[in-house]
Amino acid sequence: MRLTILGGGGFRVPLVYGALLGDHAEGRVTEVVLHDPDDRRLRAVSRVLAEQAEGVADAPAVSATTDLDEALRGARFVFSAIRVGGLQGRAEDERIALAAGVPGQETVGAGGIAYGLRTVPVAVDIARRVARLAPDAWVINFTNPAGLVTEAMARHLGDRVIGICDSPVGLGRRIARVLGADPKRAFVDYVGLNHLGWVRALRVAGRDELPRLLGDPALLGSFEEGRLFGADWLRSLGAIPNEYLHYYYFNRETVRAYQRAERTRGAFLRDQQARFYAEAADPGVSALRAWERTRAEREATYMAENRESAGAGEREEDDLSGGYEKVALALMRAIARDERATLILNVRNRSTLHVLDADAVVEVPCLVDAGGAHPLAADPLPGHATGLVCAVKDVERQVLSAAESGSRATAVKAFALHPLVDSVNLARRLVDEYAAAHPGLGYLK
Ligand code: G6P
Ligand code: MN
Repeated sequence: MRLTILGGGGFRVPLVYGALLGDHAEGRVTEVVLHDPDDRRLRAVSRVLAEQAEGVADAPAVSATTDLDEALRGARFVFSAIRVGGLQGRAEDERIALAAGVPGQETVGAGGIAYGLRTVPVAVDIARRVARLAPDAWVINFTNPAGLVTEAMARHLGDRVIGICDSPVGLGRRIARVLGADPKRAFVDYVGLNHLGWVRALRVAGRDELPRLLGDPALLGSFEEGRLFGADWLRSLGAIPNEYLHYYYFNRETVRAYQRAERTRGAFLRDQQARFYAEAADPGVSALRAWERTRAEREATYMAENRESAGAGEREEDDLSGGYEKVALALMRAIARDERATLILNVRNRSTLHVLDADAVVEVPCLVDAGGAHPLAADPLPGHATGLVCAVKDVERQVLSAAESGSRATAVKAFALHPLVDSVNLARRLVDEYAAAHPGLGYLK
């Protein structure tokens, strides 16, 4: 079975390959095709994968190409993990937003809109090619902003594209851990959009254990989201938000913390990865060791300024191992082998959230089998969460419409309607500055 990875020269590809190496069951991936426009990155990542595969008899064969159509033909699964504009583009997204006094993050607010405007046309082109060249393939979208990009692709691929994120799983695992529950037996009632969702219940054998957590300040202080948001606020909400809601509930503090930082996250990762790709090109260096070192540093510094502004301290050891590749593999296995699994995924809403239309991509628990991902029924969100979800979904729709029509006025509307952008004038300025910084936004007229 062939898996094609778009963005195959990307830094997180070895995570995926590492997970594949642990799968020896029948129906596993036997062939991995890496696609990337950058040959140097492909060579570096291929070296890491070759070292990972040493001594593994049934390791999936790896090949690499810069030809997209060739990469797609014959693929049963396609992982799309591209970064349009590279990390330099991300750094610009963040810098321009922060200089304007609004959150600078690759998926939230102005930064996420800029990244979305750049990425959607490329993702749509990929979706069209998949529909033509590999119509039976399943596309698993990792590309951020994941919900928006999945919705753009779903307009061409329908339910054959599924978006993934590891934040909800990580959150569910942490809540289960502090409650002493087995994460495998717990049902996490999580609903929202990507990076904009809430855990409202954690059911073990039908019983909701979340009230026990919300009623215990010591337990609330013992995990990442509890420390980020604070026990009082979580009790007021009666739910545990996704970590990315920190940019909403503590907007001022996070903006200030990131404005004060020496570099944005994108600039940090850009410099860090430039060092890694240079090292990995050196035949005297173990590419795998260089990758492992770089990855450990990336994990340890994830959301550092949010944690610092909240006084949340360091990340816990258990939270450093990621999990994104595990979600992808679990999803692929459930589809390929018809092994039923319940996973939190980005899929079309159907009738899950009544306030959104059927085609809106939402992030909700789904039952997965050979027929794909089927969202489970969910209780409605409370008023304030419904308000945020509807406002942000409408912003996403403006982004999709601007990307399709090339209308600058629609791009301004996307920024202006976002709850974290507080002026239409600012929205106009952001469009001007992003268009000047990014050649990929030249289509906006
Ligand atoms: C989390 C998010 C992802 C993000 C990743 C890496 O897992 O859910 O969407 O890509 O962190 O974040 P970073 O800031 O290291 O790029
Ligand atoms: Mn994510």
